[in-house]
Amino acid sequence: MPSIRKLPEVLINQIAAGEVVERPASVLKELLENSLDADSRAIEVQLTQGGIKQLRVTDDGCGIAKEDLALALERHATSKIATLEDLEAVGTMGFRGEALAAISSVARTRITSRARGTSHAWRVSEREHEPMPAALNGGTVVEVDDLYYNTPARRKFLKSDATEYGHCDDAFRRVALARPEVGFQLSHNGRVNLRLAPGDAERRAREILGDDFMAQARMIDVASGALRLFGFASLPAYARSNRDAQYFYVNGRFVRDKIIQHALRQAYADILHGDRHAAYALFLELDPAGVDVNVHPAKTEVRFREGRAIHQFVFHALTRALAAPVQAAIHVPESNDYIAPASPTEQAHLGVAEPVQARYFSPTQFAPAGGRTPSFEALGAFAPRNQAPNGAMPNALPATTQGAPLGYAIAQLHGIFVLAQNESGLVLVDMHAAHERILYEQLKHVLDGTPGVQRLLIPAVFNASKIEMATAEDHADTLQQMGFDVAPAGPNELAVRSVPALLARASVMDLLRALLGELRDFPATEVIAARRNELLGTMACHGAVRANRQLTLPEMNALLRDMEATERADQCNHGRPTWVQLSMNELDKLFMRGQ
Ligand SMILES: Nc1ncnc2c1ncn2[C@@H]1O[C@H](COP(=O)(O)OP(=O)(O)OP(=O)(O)O)[C@@H](O)[C@H]1O
Ligand SMILES: [Mg+2]
Repeated sequence: MPSIRKLPEVLINQIAAGEVVERPASVLKELLENSLDADSRAIEVQLTQGGIKQLRVTDDGCGIAKEDLALALERHATSKIATLEDLEAVGTMGFRGEALAAISSVARTRITSRARGTSHAWRVSEREHEPMPAALNGGTVVEVDDLYYNTPARRKFLKSDATEYGHCDDAFRRVALARPEVGFQLSHNGRVNLRLAPGDAERRAREILGDDFMAQARMIDVASGALRLFGFASLPAYARSNRDAQYFYVNGRFVRDKIIQHALRQAYADILHGDRHAAYALFLELDPAGVDVNVHPAKTEVRFREGRAIHQFVFHALTRALAAPVQAAIHVPESNDYIAPASPTEQAHLGVAEPVQARYFSPTQFAPAGGRTPSFEALGAFAPRNQAPNGAMPNALPATTQGAPLGYAIAQLHGIFVLAQNESGLVLVDMHAAHERILYEQLKHVLDGTPGVQRLLIPAVFNASKIEMATAEDHADTLQQMGFDVAPAGPNELAVRSVPALLARASVMDLLRALLGELRDFPATEVIAARRNELLGTMACHGAVRANRQLTLPEMNALLRDMEATERADQCNHGRPTWVQLSMNELDKLFMRGQ
């Protein structure tokens, strides 16, 4: 029988390193977090050969006192917490007192540091724990050489220098994005690759995520009690084919959390289709006591005490920012923001009594052009009711109470676009895409309640394949729930006697064929719940006005008013924009007026 014995300290640390030090990027993350915890204002990272040969982090933080230097390399030694209460309210990135011990057990490690207010620096290494005098102006330099030099089995798992550098670059960006007030520099093999001056959150987000992202992003800043969500989230037009640009932080810590990811996916579910992924840099702040960060050694997982409430809060904050109707987005007051108090239902969802304030804006898309700063009130005044073609505007709200942000129709172009004039200039609407979106949103309500049904004067009868016949029979309930009355009219014929009222104009045969195609492979019970959005999308697409249908001015104006009243009307179901604004300024520029 093998005897039980205590493991040597070095082996204990190497085992711990297995969890914390996966690759150079994880070393870099730990060193950067230590520099931030030391209140640094400037942090420089120098990597050699993907960080495998050397990682060097220099900061201007508080430094480490001579008598603490050796302890910094020891396991379970930290300056950041002392009691369980400290742990439960931890505000620093580190708290385990483990990272440097783990790193120095698998790589040659040197720490040179000069504590603030002392006359010179001291140095320790993984082999020499007794501090030796060293030269340094201030702050701390940590050098980590030859990662896994003593654990070749782990070394084998490292990838090429380029791949490891890529991971380091990711880790660097994640940290830098959350701390815009700190300056960062990253170089590789002697070349500076990224230099980030201290600045504000918007500037840092632009540097890390790029101009294209910012041009298609909405700023979010929503607070409710002790919860706050702020940052930037892309509109669907900027959707990407991978998840690379998804940054979410909890109290400044980059995390991947199931609850959060679910909330974000849901918020985007309606406007992002298929295999497209959103991009965002979002920061959730809450009382540290409400979140446990001591879940995993790498600290990328957290546990929320009130998971459900957090889910609701994040979901609603983001949904609202993305859905901010046309009115909210188009008028950008001088301060570049729009204050929209939460509706009572939203407040109920958030579980708060006090008003919630949200600020949304789409930084470039709707920015006031040149000197023109359209105001909400001015728009109402611009189109007095008696000038508006208000003959048949079933959905138009009285002009006195409500402006017409999308203006009034002036023409239809090639059977595809509606042209309208508003206070800022010209509005171009993709009429099919816009109408599709409106129908989609309206149909949602239909599915939630009893659908308005349009009985057909003459039943529409059409030839159906065997599989279509069978599908119609299997899913008769689902179809009825959606407002369709479909029944066999012969061995190879289906008869449709009613359709949802909202789709009265659609080609019944095309619509039903498409729906049957969607329903075909699904067990009847799952359909509505599982494929709701796809079914709605199919229905909306078939119900929406087709290209080349001539619309009258009143019909076009009704469409504009519907858009204004519809959430998420800015994008079609597939995430493309439904309308664009060409300001007078932009038009002037086309003709070089005033130049
Ligand atoms: N760049 C630095 N500047 C100042 N002090 C530092 C720096 N790096 C490390 N230290 C000190 O060394 C201690 C040990 O660092 P280490 O990263 O091992 O543990 P930690 O940060 O406390 O916890 P964790 O293991 O969760 O990172 C820290 O508590 C801190 O006091
Ligand atoms: Mg640390």
